[in-house]
Amino acid sequence: MDNLIGLVNRIQRACTALGDYGGEGTLQSLWESLPTVVVVGGQSSGKSSVLESIVGRDFLPRGSGIVTRRPLVLQLHKIDEKVEYAEFLHMPKKRFTDFGAVRREIAEETDRVTGRSRQISPVPIHLSVYSPNVVNLTLIDLPGLTKIAIEGQSDSIVGEIENMVRSYIEKPNTIILAVSPANQDIATSDAIKIAREVDPQGERTFGVLTKLDLMDKGTNALDVLEGHSYRLQHPWVGVVNRSQQDINKNVDMIAARRRERDYFAQSPDYGHLASRMGSEYLGKLLSKHLEAVIKARIPSILAMINKSIDEIEAELNQIGRPLANDAGAQLYTVLELCRSFDRIFKEHLDGSRPGGEK
Ligand code: GDP
Ligand code: NA
Ligand code: MG
Repeated sequence: MDNLIGLVNRIQRACTALGDYGGEGTLQSLWESLPTVVVVGGQSSGKSSVLESIVGRDFLPRGSGIVTRRPLVLQLHKIDEKVEYAEFLHMPKKRFTDFGAVRREIAEETDRVTGRSRQISPVPIHLSVYSPNVVNLTLIDLPGLTKIAIEGQSDSIVGEIENMVRSYIEKPNTIILAVSPANQDIATSDAIKIAREVDPQGERTFGVLTKLDLMDKGTNALDVLEGHSYRLQHPWVGVVNRSQQDINKNVDMIAARRRERDYFAQSPDYGHLASRMGSEYLGKLLSKHLEAVIKARIPSILAMINKSIDEIEAELNQIGRPLANDAGAQLYTVLELCRSFDRIFKEHLDGSRPGGEK
C-alpha cells in the first residue's frame, strides 16, 4: 500500500497547482477536507526552527522580529532516491538542491508580495521538499502572533495576524502545533491561548516547548512536559533548537540533532523522558498521527474526490475536448489523478477491512 500521507500530499499539490483557475471551488473544498499540520505561536517562539528540525534541513528564514510574513505551505515527500531537492509552486521548472538558495527565494518571494516592508500577506508560498530523510507531512508555517505593532507596521497588524492564524486552525481537519518558549510563562502563551479557542478539549493540539536550554538555572518544565499543567490529549514534546549564535556559526542540522539528543539523554531533569523528546520524535509522532487521521477520514475524502470527479467531468464537457487550452488540460490531469486516488483509496479500504479483498 502506497503511503497514505504521500497520496494526500499529491492531491493537495494537484489542487494548488490549479489554484488560479476559475473552477477551484471544488478543489478548494477537496484541499480543505485533507488534514494538515499548522504551526502557531508567538513571534520568535521558535516556530520556523521547529519546522526546520522536523525536516532536518536548513532552509527557512529565521531570527528575531517578524521574519515569517506569509504563510509557507511546506509539503514533505519521502522518496527512495538518495537525492534531496526542493521546488516552489511559483517556479515549477526549477529544482533547488542548494537549501541556502531556498531560503533566499522564500525571503525574496515574501518581499515580492509585501514589498520590502514589515507587512504581512495571507497569500501562501508553496514549497515541496523531496528527500529520503523526511516523513510524509504537510506543514504550514505562519507569521507569529504579536501584541504590538512595530515601526513600519500599521496597528491593525496584530489583529490581522491573529485572524490569519485563526482562519487556518479553526478548520476541524487541522492539527495544531502550538509552539511555546520554555523561558516564558506558559500562562501567557499565545499559542495555547489561540489553540484553546478553537480546540478547547485539546484533541487536535500538540504542545511543543522550545528553548528548554534557555530556562533559568534551577527551574525546569517538568510540570508541563509530564502533563500536570496545561493538559492536552496528546503528550507535550520538548525540543532544543539551534540558538541564534549556533545559526551565525553555521552549526549544521546533523550536529544540532545530535546535540539535542545528547541534551535530553544527559539531562538530570528530562533523562527519563528522553525517548519522547526532541524534533526527530516530534516528526515521527506527527506523521503517525496524521496517517491515523487520514485513515479515519478515507470515506469522507473518497466522497469528496468523487464529487470532484463529477464536477470536473461536467466542467470538461462544457469546455469541450480536445483540450485546446491550458485550463482544460490541467483539469484533465486532476481528473486522472482523482480517479487514481479513488482507486487506490478504495483498494486500501478493502485491504484494511477484516475479511476484505486481497
Ligand atoms: P519564529 O519567529 O517563531 O519562527 O522563531 P525562529 O525559529 O525564527 O526563532 C527565533 C530565535 O530563537 C532564533 O534566533 C532561534 O535561533 C532562537 N531559538 C529557537 N528555538 C530555540 C531553542 O530551542 N533554543 C535556543 N537557545 N534558541 C532557540
Ligand atoms: Na522570528
Ligand atoms: Mg518564523
